[in-house]
Amino acid sequence: MQWHPNPTERRAHASLKWSTFPDSELPLWVADMDCAPPPCVIETIHQATDHGIFGYGTEPKGFRHAWVEHLRNRHQWDIDPDWIVPVAGVVPGMRFALMAHPEIRHVLTPTPAYPYFKTVPSIERRTEHPIALTRIGDTLEPSLTHIRDTLDSLTEPSAILWCNPHNPGGTVYSKECIQTLVTTASKHDTLIVSDEIWADLILDGQAHIPLGLIAPNDQPTITLMAATKTFNVAGFGCAVAIIPEPKTRARFQETLIAMPHIAPLAYAVTESCLRDGWHWHRELIDALKCNRSRVLDWAVTHPEFEVTTGRATFLAWIESHHQKDLSERFARQGVRLSPGTPFGSETAVRLNFGTNPATLDEALRRMDAALL
Ligand SMILES: Cc1ncc(COP(=O)(O)O)c(C=O)c1O
Repeated sequence: MQWHPNPTERRAHASLKWSTFPDSELPLWVADMDCAPPPCVIETIHQATDHGIFGYGTEPKGFRHAWVEHLRNRHQWDIDPDWIVPVAGVVPGMRFALMAHPEIRHVLTPTPAYPYFKTVPSIERRTEHPIALTRIGDTLEPSLTHIRDTLDSLTEPSAILWCNPHNPGGTVYSKECIQTLVTTASKHDTLIVSDEIWADLILDGQAHIPLGLIAPNDQPTITLMAATKTFNVAGFGCAVAIIPEPKTRARFQETLIAMPHIAPLAYAVTESCLRDGWHWHRELIDALKCNRSRVLDWAVTHPEFEVTTGRATFLAWIESHHQKDLSERFARQGVRLSPGTPFGSETAVRLNFGTNPATLDEALRRMDAALL
């Protein structure tokens, strides 16, 4: 795995990250990385172009088996292949989960949260209940008591949109935490939708505990996973919803009618990564750890901020608690970060350190200049 030496070239390829803002800005915002994916992805694409026909596709025979093996080998979660429902993305999966349950009126979102955790309940016209995460040591932790009290106060059906590992904070939730969450949800007949797209980007070797490993199979849960974030192939929309409980699964499947298909190449790319991408992945984790150290070194020189990277992701959450114009300030100095407001904090910004070290160092230097 190697960082691209000159990621500005991405501007010529309609990259959301590089083509949205002026060329004078270094974009460290939307969560993709400035590197090529594992070689197996390029091979898979070559095979498809050599064949040269691009009609409607169907789920490849090995696709769910690749997921079953992956979850067993890397996350000790033994699943029935029938529990898998392929979807064109994790965010669409989150929306389908709510569309499938119109009776659910309330949605709890640990906050700060990846913005779609707020926009999806809003466009689905449900009431959002932010559950504030607090910084304990160097990680953002939820108050499980707050979740319980909120559920106690609600008289209509509810869901929890959970994110593990957490974007933007990088928290990897413990087994005890997930156990308490599952028990609380069960007592309140609450659906848990667990977005685990970051499960394979844990930098410090902790185990990822899938929600479905802890929850009983007859409890309504929807676990959303994808290989797209891990292997930097976000342009090939493909994800899976893993739904052990049959009624919840049937309702979810019904919402998929007349929705976009997964492109055959996206299926094939995901399957190839799950099978053959792991050597590349080991190198990626080392490269991300080096970049995270650069960000944490920068943080030491800025005690006015709480900088949280947690144990996973390639994101840093930079919280000032009082400066509302941080993202504009950094942008004026030529660094584009994600503003905190859509995440639920107007005094924070999120930095994506998935780029080459030279670009990252230059961005941190410009951020220093912005703060003078
Ligand atoms: C927590 C989380 N969920 C979902 C997504 C996007 O998923 P998809 O592209 O499969 O819709 C992201 C992308 O950054 C994310 O951070």
